Amino acid sequence: MNPSPPAWPAPLAGGGPSVRRNGLGVFGAIVAALSAGDLASAQTSSPVQVVQGAWSKPDLSPDDRAEAALRAMTLDEKLRLLRTPMSMVLAPAKREGAPASAAFIPGTPRLGLPTIAESDASLGVANGGAMRKDDIATALPSSLALGAAFDPELAYRGGAMIGAEARAKGFGVMLTGGANLVRDPRGGRNFEYLSEDPLLTGVLAGRAIAGIQSNHIISTMKHFAVNDQETGRDVYSVEMAEAPMRESDLLAFEIANEIGQPGSVMCGYNRVNAIYACENPFLLNHVLKRDWGFKGFVMSDWGAVHSVGAVQAGLDQESGYQIDPEPYFGSMLAKALAAGQVPQSAVDEAARRILRTLIARGLIDDPPSSGARIDYEADGTIAQAQEEAGIVLLRNEGGALPLATGLKRIAVIGGHADIGVLSGGGSSQVAPVGGIKLELRENGPGMTNFIKRVYGGSAPLAALKAAFPDAVVDFADGTDPAAAAGLAARADIAIVFAEKWSYESADSADMSLGAGQDALIEAVTKANTKTVVVLETGDPVAMPWLQRTPAVLAAWYPGQRGAEAIARVLTGAVDPGGRLPITWPASLDQTPEPALPGADAPPGPKPKFGLAHDKAPFSFSYREGSDVGYRWFDKTKARPLYAFGYGLSYTRFRYDGLSATGGKAVTVRFTVTNIGSRSGADAPQVYVTAPGHAKRLVGWDKAQLAAGQSKPVTIKVDPRLLADFDEKSQSWVVTSGAYRIEVARSASEPVLAAVVPVEGAHFRDTAAGKP
Ligand code: BGC
Repeated sequence: MNPSPPAWPAPLAGGGPSVRRNGLGVFGAIVAALSAGDLASAQTSSPVQVVQGAWSKPDLSPDDRAEAALRAMTLDEKLRLLRTPMSMVLAPAKREGAPASAAFIPGTPRLGLPTIAESDASLGVANGGAMRKDDIATALPSSLALGAAFDPELAYRGGAMIGAEARAKGFGVMLTGGANLVRDPRGGRNFEYLSEDPLLTGVLAGRAIAGIQSNHIISTMKHFAVNDQETGRDVYSVEMAEAPMRESDLLAFEIANEIGQPGSVMCGYNRVNAIYACENPFLLNHVLKRDWGFKGFVMSDWGAVHSVGAVQAGLDQESGYQIDPEPYFGSMLAKALAAGQVPQSAVDEAARRILRTLIARGLIDDPPSSGARIDYEADGTIAQAQEEAGIVLLRNEGGALPLATGLKRIAVIGGHADIGVLSGGGSSQVAPVGGIKLELRENGPGMTNFIKRVYGGSAPLAALKAAFPDAVVDFADGTDPAAAAGLAARADIAIVFAEKWSYESADSADMSLGAGQDALIEAVTKANTKTVVVLETGDPVAMPWLQRTPAVLAAWYPGQRGAEAIARVLTGAVDPGGRLPITWPASLDQTPEPALPGADAPPGPKPKFGLAHDKAPFSFSYREGSDVGYRWFDKTKARPLYAFGYGLSYTRFRYDGLSATGGKAVTVRFTVTNIGSRSGADAPQVYVTAPGHAKRLVGWDKAQLAAGQSKPVTIKVDPRLLADFDEKSQSWVVTSGAYRIEVARSASEPVLAAVVPVEGAHFRDTAAGKP
């Protein structure tokens, strides 16, 4: 239910909300910047007299040091902090010592403040991704695999690994921490996001951010906020009332912020209630900085700035400024200051936040420099661990898996499994250790020259050969279904690698696998009934052949050691640890938006640089409001193909001993026991249903248990998960009543249940007054 959107305070002097389209995204922007020639303000380094001051004294507080630096700075030096050049497009002399990457924060050599380089890092240090092939990094599986792992410590380890590699490569700001909710199974960037649930997303994003920042560098949290689809991402407006926003997308960011304490928040391309996210005072000033007490700085997404007035709406830094059509935080801001349209205090506040964060994170005292040795072997084990924990076994009829050890002939089909594994496209693209093995250029909506379909990492074919040294393992690329079927007919078992590529800047048109793969799988299953399908996708897909195949694994985009992880799950060397972090609908008709919002929007004005999106501005409200994913299915009583939280194991788990207490706070206790004959991983989930509401995930446990082993679990429920947000009193309201508690295998499979009385409560969410 979405009441009419609230009227947020109007944006401030110096440029209001605009509906002009731009924001090509970094990839579209590169070409733009190359041709724009707006690089004149980049400074070359020449010897300077360094002035020392209180800002360089580690024993003083970050606030005092930042204040001292600010007082010592000229206006020009302050303004330089407020716009980051996109170094990828600059000649080395103009990069001020930064590597070629997404951007850098210019240093102030006169005060001894270093240049700090930024890199994309959602799934590893991207550093220009597919463009900088010379700079490899450990490529993690897609974030959905991490979401499926339900394991905050794995999120931390992955973050710590990325941060350590980043520091060793000379980067100090990681553009990661994706905390957008997966609202639609077609989302082009779902593979960069963690789940459809605010708690799961917030906890995992928060721990990943904390892991990155344990290296004394900065992580962002992005893309703030309600930037949940790619279609028309730089023009659309989500119309959503405050309450559903606070209970869904904002709650995910709020939890991630509390746990991860990111140094920076990246505002998104889209508009929220008609105002661009990067000039939205409600999102930036009111919610983030005031209510959540955020002390870091807000950077824009690349090309997401639309006005000078954004600086008063809470934006502190214009990112990759060469791609913006106007010099917003450059000469325009200087002019607005001189004319008194923007007060000096707004510029000081933005510069202060940036300085304070750089100091507080240790980047001034110990700036990263490239060249340290990276143990890629050790880092690869983290990528593999995330994938092993995140593979979801969707179907396993008649004990088809794990595969029998004595197989003599195995047919491996499709998915370029002889070469490597697929990864999602766009700014998060990592050139993995071992290099890019295959790069395909495709034509599609939102496509630019810089978004390529990339395969790398180890090859599933080789991993399966290693797992079955005594078997003949043959490969067919799947382009000829008859040949693939012939190979399958001669084998004991067939393994089809089915794939669907997603990329930043466009959503999928539908849920189909495409490229004739359904027909291929039909043909192979007809030839060999023992056919296992391994899905390498960024989203749930339709599986018209499902009943014909005994086993299906969702391997997501498996990351650089994904082949080994898949082989180990297939052979049973490891239990498939994943549980779905998103609902797998039976069809799009079950979802809130069978037709993707904006898919039919007419073309907009031709973008300045002729790339990426060209949709006319449009607005919509998500019908589900805060009832995202499984909550929508609970509310509509629709039965998905596979529910949120679902996933099979090779062993069996019993849940018992439920005791739940209510009153002022809800606490749930139970025991999980591995009652099978082998060790395995489980993620028992706790859901609460408040009277008249859809159910909500309020906790889970990641249990790794040997056969026969038990583990007691205690979940203390965050009261926000029991509450509604009340806009009028700006507080969370828990309604007194009888709340149903479920300990469940998935959102659709409760095992234990209880009803507890809960006392009504009101609490505010300001940084000062947490419950
Ligand atoms: C993406 C961001 C990314 C930035 C810099 C944008 O297109 O939306 O996620 O961090 O580019 O590469």
